Amino acid sequence: MRRRHTVVLDLTERCNLRCVMCYFSTTDRLRFPPFGRELAPNGNMPLATFERIAATYFPHAWRVALGCAAEPLIHREFGTFVRIAGRYRIPELWFPTNLLALNEEKAEAIVDAGVHTVAVSVDGMRAETYEKIRVGGRFAQLEERLALLNEARQGSRTRLRIIFTWMRSNRAELQLLPAFAAAHGAAEIDVRFVTPTVGVDNAAELLANEDPGALDAELAAAAEEAVRLGLRLAYYPGFETPEDREENLVALARRALWRMRAGLYRWEYFDYELAKWRNGCAYPGRTYVIRPNGAVAPCIFWNDPPLALLPEMERAEVDRRLAPVREGLRNGEPIGTCVTCTVRGDAFYQPFRGDETRPLID
Ligand SMILES: C[S@@+](CC[C@H](N)C(=O)[O-])C[C@H]1O[C@@H](n2cnc3c(N)ncnc32)[C@H](O)[C@@H]1O
Repeated sequence: MRRRHTVVLDLTERCNLRCVMCYFSTTDRLRFPPFGRELAPNGNMPLATFERIAATYFPHAWRVALGCAAEPLIHREFGTFVRIAGRYRIPELWFPTNLLALNEEKAEAIVDAGVHTVAVSVDGMRAETYEKIRVGGRFAQLEERLALLNEARQGSRTRLRIIFTWMRSNRAELQLLPAFAAAHGAAEIDVRFVTPTVGVDNAAELLANEDPGALDAELAAAAEEAVRLGLRLAYYPGFETPEDREENLVALARRALWRMRAGLYRWEYFDYELAKWRNGCAYPGRTYVIRPNGAVAPCIFWNDPPLALLPEMERAEVDRRLAPVREGLRNGEPIGTCVTCTVRGDAFYQPFRGDETRPLID
């Protein structure tokens, strides 16, 4: 069976931290539409729902994220869930986490399940910065949990990724990230800019009005150091301007080699662009985003009402409801959130519709 799907799940609507830039700074529970619906009073996904989702979607999945918006490790049954996921031998089973709720039982389950990547969010390389940003977290506890995970994953396939959300409070600490990640045995880093979040006053943390040249130089220096230390860039903001790209062959070859070592040439990037070019967007039909209340969306950007509800709807019905979203993107007549989405593109081929004079590519 061909595995081509990505499944993004949230196992809970809750988090144990109140990070300053995050929606959890103002709430202890993240509700997903339809807002009145919950599968359990505590906002956790029930085991039976997870089992059904796993049996239906995981056999076709190439990548499954057991977390997205909330904190997966605080689910009491996380160990059971991850072991179930492990049965499906998903090539890229992973999850983002603050790791603070890790214990021996969960660490063992993660490794036994063959989790490919544990992505730990660490937005401060010093205790003071970490604890200022990750409100409720203690740096010493993070260090303990990283040690626990590292002990459990010795000799296993489970890799560590460090996620760093870049903002004003930790701007200078980006330069400390490569050494921190390498010292903790990480294979890769993921750096992203802090972004505005509805309902959260994080304007003071945004780097949007800073000198772009200075930001690029800081990103370049940290990336160079990371690659020098043998780390890959799982996700990293662009930092080169067209003028930076030297034209001579030696410089081009050196750049290509560096990008290869950084892990920036990946089949999935090509595949993503190809799918976007063919269908107008790479997500609908290839990605299923499933919330703890069973709501299904075609991508993480979708904020219209969900397309389907699990566990009561069969897979065929979910796909039937996805079809108009895919058709809209292919035809150049997007619907729902796709209308205003900036991630989508134009499908290269759009069917001829009657006497329409519209060019194929506009
Ligand atoms: C929302 S958390 C949920 C998963 C888990 N609790 C964690 O800490 O990784 C996922 C990631 O989003 C990042 N994040 C939170 N608010 C953000 C914002 N306003 N802009 C960019 N990233 C943000 C966090 O730093 C974290 O790396």
